[in-house]
Amino acid sequence: MSKILLLGGTGWLGRTLGLLALEGRHQVTALARGTEAFAQGVDAVVADRDSPDAYAGVEDQIWDLVVELTSSPRFCREALHRLGGNARNWVFVSSCSVYAEQSVPGADETAEVLDPLDPGDGEAEADYGRAKSACEVLSMQARGGRALVVRPGLIGGPGDPSGRSNYWPLRFAESRDPVLVPADPEGRQWVQIIDVRDLAAFILESGLTGHHGFVNAVGVQHTLGQALRLAREAAGAASSAANPEADHELVEYDAARMEADRVAPWAGPRSLPLVLPAGSGYAGFARRSDTRSLAMGLRRRSLRESFEDIVRSDDGSGTGSLRSGLGAEEESELIAG
Ligand SMILES: NC(=O)c1ccc[n+]([C@@H]2O[C@H](COP(=O)([O-])OP(=O)(O)OC[C@H]3O[C@@H](n4cnc5c(N)ncnc54)[C@H](OP(=O)(O)O)[C@@H]3O)[C@@H](O)[C@H]2O)c1
Repeated sequence: MSKILLLGGTGWLGRTLGLLALEGRHQVTALARGTEAFAQGVDAVVADRDSPDAYAGVEDQIWDLVVELTSSPRFCREALHRLGGNARNWVFVSSCSVYAEQSVPGADETAEVLDPLDPGDGEAEADYGRAKSACEVLSMQARGGRALVVRPGLIGGPGDPSGRSNYWPLRFAESRDPVLVPADPEGRQWVQIIDVRDLAAFILESGLTGHHGFVNAVGVQHTLGQALRLAREAAGAASSAANPEADHELVEYDAARMEADRVAPWAGPRSLPLVLPAGSGYAGFARRSDTRSLAMGLRRRSLRESFEDIVRSDDGSGTGSLRSGLGAEEESELIAG
Protein backbone atom coordinates (compact mmCIF):
# COMPACT_ATOMS: atom_id res chain seq x y z
CA MET A 1 0.00 0.00 0.00
CA SER A 2 1.35 3.43 -0.94
CA LYS A 3 0.41 6.86 0.36
CA ILE A 4 -0.76 9.01 -2.50
CA LEU A 5 -1.59 12.72 -2.45
CA LEU A 6 -3.65 14.24 -5.24
CA LEU A 7 -3.33 18.01 -5.59
CA GLY A 8 -6.79 18.30 -7.08
CA GLY A 9 -8.93 15.21 -7.05
CA THR A 10 -12.40 16.67 -7.54
CA GLY A 11 -12.16 17.02 -11.34
CA TRP A 12 -12.84 14.21 -13.80
CA LEU A 13 -9.30 12.85 -14.02
CA GLY A 14 -8.61 13.54 -10.34
CA ARG A 15 -11.64 11.57 -9.21
CA THR A 16 -10.76 8.73 -11.58
CA LEU A 17 -7.24 8.67 -10.12
CA GLY A 18 -8.63 8.59 -6.59
CA LEU A 19 -11.04 5.74 -7.26
CA LEU A 20 -8.44 3.68 -9.12
CA ALA A 21 -5.83 4.16 -6.41
CA LEU A 22 -8.37 3.08 -3.78
CA GLU A 23 -9.16 -0.01 -5.86
CA GLY A 24 -5.43 -0.75 -5.78
CA ARG A 25 -5.65 -0.57 -1.97
CA HIS A 26 -3.56 2.57 -1.69
CA GLN A 27 -4.20 5.27 0.87
CA VAL A 28 -5.41 8.34 -0.98
CA THR A 29 -5.64 11.96 0.14
CA ALA A 30 -6.99 14.69 -2.13
CA LEU A 31 -6.56 18.42 -1.58
CA ALA A 32 -9.02 20.79 -3.26
CA ARG A 33 -11.67 23.37 -2.42
CA GLY A 34 -14.40 20.82 -3.04
CA THR A 35 -16.16 22.66 -5.87
CA GLU A 36 -17.22 19.18 -7.02
CA ALA A 37 -17.50 16.16 -4.78
CA PHE A 38 -14.40 14.23 -3.74
CA ALA A 39 -14.31 10.57 -4.72
CA GLN A 40 -15.90 8.43 -2.04
CA GLY A 41 -13.26 6.87 0.20
CA VAL A 42 -10.44 9.40 -0.29
CA ASP A 43 -9.28 11.47 2.67
CA ALA A 44 -10.54 14.89 1.63
CA VAL A 45 -8.52 17.94 2.66
CA VAL A 46 -10.60 20.99 1.88
CA ALA A 47 -8.25 23.88 1.19
CA ASP A 48 -7.92 26.87 -1.12
CA ARG A 49 -4.45 26.96 -2.63
CA ASP A 50 -4.67 30.74 -2.72
CA SER A 51 -4.54 30.76 1.05
CA PRO A 52 -1.15 30.80 2.86
CA ASP A 53 -1.97 27.77 5.06
CA ALA A 54 -3.37 25.66 2.19
CA TYR A 55 -0.89 22.81 2.70
CA ALA A 56 -1.01 22.73 6.52
CA GLY A 57 -3.03 19.50 6.53
CA VAL A 58 -0.62 17.58 4.30
CA GLU A 59 2.88 19.01 4.66
CA ASP A 60 4.15 17.04 7.66
CA GLN A 61 3.72 13.64 6.06
CA ILE A 62 5.82 11.49 3.76
CA TRP A 63 4.13 10.70 0.43
CA ASP A 64 5.05 7.85 -1.88
CA LEU A 65 3.51 9.78 -4.74
CA VAL A 66 2.19 13.29 -5.24
CA VAL A 67 0.13 13.90 -8.38
CA GLU A 68 -0.15 17.59 -9.24
CA LEU A 69 -3.14 18.46 -11.47
CA THR A 70 -2.97 22.23 -11.51
CA SER A 71 -2.37 24.56 -14.44
CA SER A 72 -1.28 27.40 -12.20
CA PRO A 73 2.49 28.03 -11.95
CA ARG A 74 1.93 29.81 -8.63
CA PHE A 75 0.18 26.81 -7.09
CA CYS A 76 2.72 24.49 -8.60
CA ARG A 77 5.70 26.41 -7.19
CA GLU A 78 4.25 26.67 -3.70
CA ALA A 79 3.32 22.99 -3.56
CA LEU A 80 6.82 21.96 -4.67
CA HIS A 81 8.28 24.24 -2.00
CA ARG A 82 6.05 22.87 0.77
CA LEU A 83 5.80 19.21 -0.19
CA GLY A 84 8.62 18.44 -2.61
CA GLY A 85 11.03 17.36 0.13
CA ASN A 86 8.54 14.86 1.55
CA ALA A 87 7.57 13.17 -1.70
CA ARG A 88 9.33 10.07 -3.02
CA ASN A 89 7.79 10.48 -6.45
CA TRP A 90 6.17 13.45 -8.14
CA VAL A 91 3.97 13.48 -11.24
CA PHE A 92 2.95 16.69 -12.91
CA VAL A 93 -0.06 16.27 -15.20
CA SER A 94 0.76 18.57 -18.08
CA SER A 95 -0.70 18.61 -21.61
CA CYS A 96 0.26 18.27 -25.26
CA SER A 97 -0.78 21.94 -25.39
CA VAL A 98 2.76 22.78 -24.21
CA TYR A 99 4.10 22.05 -27.69
CA ALA A 100 5.00 25.07 -29.81
CA GLU A 101 4.09 23.33 -33.10
CA GLN A 102 1.09 21.20 -33.99
CA SER A 103 2.13 20.70 -37.60
CA VAL A 104 4.59 17.76 -37.45
CA PRO A 105 3.06 14.26 -37.41
CA GLY A 106 4.86 11.82 -35.11
CA ALA A 107 6.67 14.47 -33.04
CA ASP A 108 7.99 13.09 -29.76
CA GLU A 109 8.75 14.56 -26.34
CA THR A 110 11.86 16.36 -27.59
CA ALA A 111 9.76 18.75 -29.71
CA GLU A 112 10.00 22.43 -28.83
CA VAL A 113 7.66 23.69 -26.11
CA LEU A 114 6.09 27.10 -25.57
CA ASP A 115 7.93 29.73 -23.54
CA PRO A 116 7.01 29.23 -19.89
CA LEU A 117 4.95 31.92 -18.21
CA ASP A 118 6.43 33.79 -15.32
CA PRO A 119 4.77 32.25 -12.21
CA GLY A 120 4.06 35.74 -10.89
CA ASP A 121 2.07 36.61 -13.99
CA GLY A 122 -1.31 35.67 -12.56
CA GLU A 123 -3.52 37.13 -15.23
CA ALA A 124 -1.74 35.30 -18.02
CA GLU A 125 -2.60 31.95 -16.48
CA ALA A 126 -5.40 31.96 -19.02
CA ASP A 127 -2.59 31.11 -21.44
CA TYR A 128 -2.95 27.40 -20.75
CA GLY A 129 -0.07 26.00 -22.83
CA ARG A 130 2.48 28.47 -21.47
CA ALA A 131 1.18 28.00 -17.91
CA LYS A 132 1.61 24.22 -18.17
CA SER A 133 5.05 24.79 -19.68
CA ALA A 134 6.02 26.88 -16.63
CA CYS A 135 4.71 24.19 -14.27
CA GLU A 136 6.85 21.62 -16.09
CA VAL A 137 10.00 23.72 -15.64
CA LEU A 138 9.22 24.38 -11.97
CA SER A 139 8.58 20.68 -11.30
CA MET A 140 11.81 19.56 -12.93
CA GLN A 141 13.89 22.28 -11.27
CA ALA A 142 12.53 21.69 -7.78
CA ARG A 143 12.97 17.91 -8.04
CA GLY A 144 16.41 18.01 -9.63
CA GLY A 145 15.01 16.32 -12.74
CA ARG A 146 13.32 13.53 -10.76
CA ALA A 147 9.74 14.37 -11.62
CA LEU A 148 7.56 12.68 -14.19
CA VAL A 149 5.82 15.11 -16.51
CA VAL A 150 2.88 13.38 -18.22
CA ARG A 151 1.53 15.21 -21.27
CA PRO A 152 -1.95 13.91 -22.11
CA GLY A 153 -3.52 14.50 -25.47
CA LEU A 154 -7.30 14.72 -25.64
CA ILE A 155 -8.78 12.79 -22.71
CA GLY A 156 -12.04 10.96 -23.36
CA GLY A 157 -14.40 8.35 -22.02
CA PRO A 158 -17.53 8.08 -19.88
CA GLY A 159 -18.32 11.29 -18.03
CA ASP A 160 -16.18 13.55 -20.22
CA PRO A 161 -17.25 16.99 -18.94
CA SER A 162 -16.14 18.69 -22.16
CA GLY A 163 -18.57 16.77 -24.37
CA ARG A 164 -15.89 16.23 -27.03
CA SER A 165 -15.41 12.46 -26.86
CA ASN A 166 -19.01 11.66 -26.00
CA TYR A 167 -20.94 13.67 -28.60
CA TRP A 168 -20.57 11.28 -31.57
CA PRO A 169 -21.33 7.95 -29.85
CA LEU A 170 -24.26 9.52 -28.01
CA ARG A 171 -25.54 11.17 -31.17
CA PHE A 172 -25.48 7.84 -33.04
CA ALA A 173 -27.26 6.20 -30.10
CA GLU A 174 -30.18 8.61 -30.57
CA SER A 175 -32.97 7.70 -32.96
CA ARG A 176 -33.20 11.12 -34.63
CA ASP A 177 -32.45 10.95 -38.33
CA PRO A 178 -30.52 11.99 -40.34
CA VAL A 179 -27.18 12.62 -38.61
CA LEU A 180 -24.96 15.46 -39.79
CA VAL A 181 -21.35 14.25 -40.02
CA PRO A 182 -18.26 16.15 -41.12
CA ALA A 183 -16.89 15.06 -44.46
CA ASP A 184 -13.22 14.07 -44.27
CA PRO A 185 -12.55 13.04 -47.85
CA GLU A 186 -8.77 12.88 -47.72
CA GLY A 187 -8.36 11.64 -44.17
CA ARG A 188 -6.85 15.00 -43.29
CA GLN A 189 -8.33 15.11 -39.82
CA TRP A 190 -7.10 12.88 -37.04
CA VAL A 191 -8.39 11.86 -33.64
CA GLN A 192 -6.19 10.65 -30.76
CA ILE A 193 -8.21 10.10 -27.59
CA ILE A 194 -6.79 8.57 -24.42
CA ASP A 195 -9.40 7.01 -22.16
CA VAL A 196 -9.42 8.70 -18.75
CA ARG A 197 -9.20 5.31 -17.01
CA ASP A 198 -6.12 4.25 -18.99
CA LEU A 199 -4.49 7.61 -18.34
CA ALA A 200 -5.17 7.34 -14.60
CA ALA A 201 -3.68 3.84 -14.46
CA PHE A 202 -0.60 5.01 -16.35
CA ILE A 203 -0.07 7.99 -14.04
CA LEU A 204 -0.31 5.85 -10.92
CA GLU A 205 1.83 2.97 -12.18
CA SER A 206 4.57 5.03 -13.77
CA GLY A 207 4.56 7.50 -10.88
CA LEU A 208 4.88 4.83 -8.21
CA THR A 209 7.57 3.05 -10.25
CA GLY A 210 9.68 6.20 -10.09
CA HIS A 211 9.85 6.99 -13.79
CA HIS A 212 10.89 10.54 -14.51
CA GLY A 213 11.29 12.84 -17.50
CA PHE A 214 8.68 13.81 -20.08
CA VAL A 215 6.14 11.50 -21.64
CA ASN A 216 3.19 11.96 -23.98
CA ALA A 217 0.08 10.05 -22.95
CA VAL A 218 -2.04 9.84 -26.05
CA GLY A 219 -4.54 7.49 -27.65
CA VAL A 220 -4.24 5.40 -30.78
CA GLN A 221 -4.40 7.52 -33.94
CA HIS A 222 -7.52 7.28 -36.08
CA THR A 223 -8.71 9.35 -38.98
CA LEU A 224 -11.83 11.29 -38.15
CA GLY A 225 -13.75 9.06 -40.57
CA GLN A 226 -12.58 5.92 -38.73
CA ALA A 227 -13.46 7.45 -35.37
CA LEU A 228 -16.97 8.29 -36.57
CA ARG A 229 -17.41 4.75 -37.87
CA LEU A 230 -16.31 3.35 -34.49
CA ALA A 231 -18.72 5.68 -32.71
CA ARG A 232 -21.53 4.43 -34.90
CA GLU A 233 -20.66 0.77 -34.38
CA ALA A 234 -20.29 1.31 -30.63
CA ALA A 235 -23.68 3.01 -30.47
CA GLY A 236 -25.24 0.08 -32.27
CA ALA A 237 -23.61 -2.45 -29.97
CA ALA A 238 -24.25 -0.61 -26.73
CA SER A 239 -27.65 1.05 -27.06
CA SER A 240 -30.46 -1.10 -25.86
CA ALA A 241 -33.40 1.04 -26.77
CA ALA A 242 -34.42 3.29 -29.56
CA ASN A 243 -32.07 2.41 -32.36
CA PRO A 244 -30.14 -0.78 -31.66
CA GLU A 245 -28.55 -0.87 -35.09
CA ALA A 246 -27.61 2.82 -35.00
CA ASP A 247 -28.67 2.54 -38.63
CA HIS A 248 -28.77 6.18 -39.51
CA GLU A 249 -28.97 8.09 -42.69
CA LEU A 250 -25.86 10.31 -42.78
CA VAL A 251 -25.63 13.77 -44.29
CA GLU A 252 -22.08 14.84 -45.00
CA TYR A 253 -21.22 18.40 -44.10
CA ASP A 254 -18.41 20.28 -45.81
CA ALA A 255 -16.21 21.80 -43.11
CA ALA A 256 -15.49 24.73 -45.43
CA ARG A 257 -19.03 25.94 -44.59
CA MET A 258 -18.39 26.11 -40.87
CA GLU A 259 -17.35 29.71 -40.56
CA ALA A 260 -20.25 31.01 -42.67
CA ASP A 261 -22.67 28.79 -40.72
CA ARG A 262 -21.18 29.92 -37.37
CA VAL A 263 -20.35 26.34 -36.47
CA ALA A 264 -17.34 26.06 -34.16
CA PRO A 265 -14.65 23.41 -34.60
CA TRP A 266 -13.38 21.12 -31.83
CA ALA A 267 -15.67 21.87 -28.86
CA GLY A 268 -18.35 24.01 -27.29
CA PRO A 269 -21.93 24.93 -28.15
CA ARG A 270 -22.95 24.80 -31.83
CA SER A 271 -19.80 22.89 -32.69
CA LEU A 272 -18.70 19.82 -34.59
CA PRO A 273 -16.71 18.13 -31.83
CA LEU A 274 -13.26 16.76 -32.69
CA VAL A 275 -13.19 18.62 -36.03
CA LEU A 276 -10.04 20.72 -36.24
CA PRO A 277 -10.04 24.38 -37.22
CA ALA A 278 -9.39 25.23 -40.84
CA GLY A 279 -5.78 25.88 -41.83
CA SER A 280 -2.62 23.96 -42.31
CA GLY A 281 -1.09 24.23 -38.84
CA TYR A 282 -2.75 21.07 -37.48
CA ALA A 283 -1.19 18.32 -39.58
CA GLY A 284 0.55 16.95 -36.47
CA PHE A 285 -2.33 17.52 -34.08
CA ALA A 286 -3.69 14.24 -32.70
CA ARG A 287 -0.68 12.50 -34.24
CA ARG A 288 1.79 12.70 -31.33
CA SER A 289 4.31 9.95 -30.73
CA ASP A 290 3.28 7.33 -28.18
CA THR A 291 6.54 5.36 -28.30
CA ARG A 292 7.90 6.35 -24.90
CA SER A 293 4.63 5.81 -23.05
CA LEU A 294 4.22 2.33 -24.55
CA ALA A 295 7.77 1.46 -23.52
CA MET A 296 6.88 2.61 -19.99
CA GLY A 297 3.87 0.30 -19.92
CA LEU A 298 0.85 2.37 -21.04
CA ARG A 299 -2.06 0.04 -21.81
CA ARG A 300 -4.98 1.38 -23.83
CA ARG A 301 -8.44 0.02 -24.43
CA SER A 302 -9.78 0.46 -27.96
CA LEU A 303 -11.58 3.63 -28.96
CA ARG A 304 -14.62 1.53 -29.75
CA GLU A 305 -14.65 0.23 -26.16
CA SER A 306 -14.45 3.78 -24.78
CA PHE A 307 -17.33 4.78 -27.06
CA GLU A 308 -19.43 1.77 -25.99
CA ASP A 309 -18.88 2.65 -22.33
CA ILE A 310 -19.92 6.23 -23.04
CA VAL A 311 -23.22 5.00 -24.47
CA ARG A 312 -23.77 2.45 -21.69
CA SER A 313 -23.15 5.02 -18.97
CA ASP A 314 -25.52 7.61 -20.43
CA ASP A 315 -28.24 8.55 -17.97
CA GLY A 316 -30.80 9.13 -20.73
CA SER A 317 -29.81 12.73 -21.47
CA GLY A 318 -27.99 11.78 -24.66
CA THR A 319 -26.36 14.72 -26.40
CA GLY A 320 -28.85 17.10 -24.76
CA SER A 321 -26.76 17.83 -21.68
CA LEU A 322 -23.33 18.00 -23.34
CA ARG A 323 -21.22 21.12 -23.46
CA SER A 324 -20.20 20.41 -27.05
CA GLY A 325 -21.98 19.61 -30.27
CA LEU A 326 -25.10 20.59 -32.13
CA GLY A 327 -28.56 20.83 -30.64
CA ALA A 328 -31.35 19.05 -32.50
CA GLU A 329 -32.66 22.27 -34.05
CA GLU A 330 -29.22 23.48 -35.05
CA GLU A 331 -28.49 20.18 -36.73
CA SER A 332 -31.80 20.21 -38.65
CA GLU A 333 -31.21 23.79 -39.75
CA LEU A 334 -27.74 22.91 -41.10
CA ILE A 335 -29.07 19.83 -42.86
CA ALA A 336 -31.82 21.90 -44.47
CA GLY A 337 -29.47 24.77 -45.37
N1 LIG B 1 -9.37 17.26 -20.65
C1 LIG B 1 -8.38 17.06 -21.49
O1 LIG B 1 -8.58 16.62 -22.62
C2 LIG B 1 -6.94 17.36 -21.03
C3 LIG B 1 -5.92 17.22 -21.96
C4 LIG B 1 -4.61 17.40 -21.52
C5 LIG B 1 -4.35 17.69 -20.20
N2 LIG B 1 -5.37 17.83 -19.32
C6 LIG B 1 -5.04 18.06 -17.90
O2 LIG B 1 -5.54 16.96 -17.19
C7 LIG B 1 -5.94 17.38 -15.88
C8 LIG B 1 -7.41 17.13 -15.68
O3 LIG B 1 -7.72 17.22 -14.33
P1 LIG B 1 -9.17 17.05 -13.75
O4 LIG B 1 -10.01 16.36 -14.75
O5 LIG B 1 -9.08 16.44 -12.41
O6 LIG B 1 -9.81 18.51 -13.69
P2 LIG B 1 -9.28 19.97 -13.36
O7 LIG B 1 -10.48 20.81 -13.25
O8 LIG B 1 -8.26 20.41 -14.30
O9 LIG B 1 -8.65 19.79 -11.90
C9 LIG B 1 -8.20 20.88 -11.21
C10 LIG B 1 -8.25 20.54 -9.74
O10 LIG B 1 -7.66 21.61 -9.05
C11 LIG B 1 -8.52 22.00 -8.00
N3 LIG B 1 -8.38 23.43 -7.74
C12 LIG B 1 -8.62 24.46 -8.60
N4 LIG B 1 -8.43 25.64 -7.98
C13 LIG B 1 -8.06 25.35 -6.70
C14 LIG B 1 -7.73 26.14 -5.56
N5 LIG B 1 -7.74 27.48 -5.58
N6 LIG B 1 -7.40 25.49 -4.41
C15 LIG B 1 -7.40 24.14 -4.34
N7 LIG B 1 -7.68 23.34 -5.38
C16 LIG B 1 -8.02 23.94 -6.55
C17 LIG B 1 -9.92 21.67 -8.48
O11 LIG B 1 -10.77 21.41 -7.37
P3 LIG B 1 -11.75 22.47 -6.69
O12 LIG B 1 -12.40 23.27 -7.77
O13 LIG B 1 -12.68 21.58 -5.91
O14 LIG B 1 -10.88 23.31 -5.79
C18 LIG B 1 -9.66 20.36 -9.24
O15 LIG B 1 -9.73 19.25 -8.37
C19 LIG B 1 -5.58 18.84 -15.78
O16 LIG B 1 -4.28 18.97 -15.29
C20 LIG B 1 -5.66 19.27 -17.24
O17 LIG B 1 -4.93 20.44 -17.47
C21 LIG B 1 -6.67 17.69 -19.71
